[in-house]
Amino acid sequence: MSDAGDRFAVVLLPSGRCFDAPAGMPLLQAARESGLILPSSCRNGTCRTCIRRMVSGRVRYAIEWPGLSAEEKAEGFILPCVAIAESALVIEAVRLVAINDDA
Ligand code: FES
Repeated sequence: MSDAGDRFAVVLLPSGRCFDAPAGMPLLQAARESGLILPSSCRNGTCRTCIRRMVSGRVRYAIEWPGLSAEEKAEGFILPCVAIAESALVIEAVRLVAINDDA
């Protein structure tokens, strides 16, 4: 997978599983559409259930004030429920809730 066109490759560590994130779609939703279920609850950027560390790449947010401190952002933490890929990404996702290979 590459970040050509309007989709970005997202790699989850340590499993190495990957999915494509369409431009404009939150990462949590993009993962789900690829059959990878990540932990989540509110899905609106407030509860922090989905928090993960981004090893590389760049995201923007669908909301103005996602529930992250400036320090957390600087350390690479993201909220996949409201984070939108702007480049290929590598994310630490130690725990997958489920994998649906039929997706
Ligand atoms: S699911 Fe609540 S902040 Fe992402």
